Amino acid sequence: MRHRHFLSYFFYEFCQITVAIMSSGNLNFQCAIVTGGGGGIGKALAAYFISKGKKVLIAGRTESNLQKTAKEIGTAGYYLLDTGKTSDIPAFIAKVTAEHPELDCLVNNAGVQRPLEISKLDATEFLGKADQEIDINIRGPMHLALGLLSHFRQKKSAIIINVSSVLGFVPFSIINPVYNGTKAWLHFWSMNLRTQLKRDEGGRIKVVEIAPPMVGTDLHRDREDPDDNKKEKNAEALTVEEFIEAVAEGLEKGHDIITAGKMGDIVGQWYSTFGGVYSRAEEGRM
Ligand SMILES: NC(=O)c1ccc[n+]([C@@H]2O[C@H](COP(=O)([O-])OP(=O)(O)OC[C@H]3O[C@@H](n4cnc5c(N)ncnc54)[C@H](OP(=O)(O)O)[C@@H]3O)[C@@H](O)[C@H]2O)c1
Repeated sequence: MRHRHFLSYFFYEFCQITVAIMSSGNLNFQCAIVTGGGGGIGKALAAYFISKGKKVLIAGRTESNLQKTAKEIGTAGYYLLDTGKTSDIPAFIAKVTAEHPELDCLVNNAGVQRPLEISKLDATEFLGKADQEIDINIRGPMHLALGLLSHFRQKKSAIIINVSSVLGFVPFSIINPVYNGTKAWLHFWSMNLRTQLKRDEGGRIKVVEIAPPMVGTDLHRDREDPDDNKKEKNAEALTVEEFIEAVAEGLEKGHDIITAGKMGDIVGQWYSTFGGVYSRAEEGRM
């Protein structure tokens, strides 16, 4: 398995530089809610957790997809939620935690990607799409995490898993200027959230970031060619199965940041360059 070898090498190198961000065991939770669990990476993550004996709930906007997926992979339930409608989040959290008090894992996976050409789009249309993308990719994960913290604080341990992107490290997909920025935000937010929870609350609530490279899902539905992220069209793209295999390895080894494939190199390079600076800041030496 080429990707496995690459991943092992990547993480060997990575661990030398970022020992401080390593910890063990990301599968100590009992019950996870996976946003965007009706399809793509979220569905595959949910199925993987179920295969590990976890109770899994999924949330999304399209009931037919949630229903179909829940039946197909055997989730313990599903919830209709638009993560971009942050005013709905408190009621959602109250309902899920009342129905599933053992909930101790949040997977912020739901995300959208909108091609936005600054010179071609009318400003009103641009801003409407951009605001929605920011609501879903930034405000949703932040409101869900903050909203669940008091519930998670009552647990022996809990985990927040944020799905960012390699595009949050280098914005090389120039047609997605807002998306790239939202994923950079999620990356930096995940780092600081992890550090603060470790520093101030003893690290009982872990924060893991998954930074996918290009993976063959429906994410590119708004592009001219929605299938340009499929292996047949892009040799560097991973299939969902290849990606989840790498993610499973990272989760089982307890990594705090997980990526895969050749594009995942960017994440290692970023940490080689800036990981030390961040570690010094974490230790209060800056
Ligand atoms: N595939 C890639 O190449 C790639 C690369 C880097 C990062 N990622 C990230 O991986 C995550 C999963 O993406 P994917 O590739 O699996 O894409 P996907 O196939 O489009 O799946 C996204 C899922 O999120 C749900 N969703 C979207 N907006 C939502 C909202 N506002 N509220 C609730 N659910 C919502 C969608 O269902 P509904 O529309 O029914 O709600 C869908 O089930 C995203 O955060 C994406 O940015 C993907």
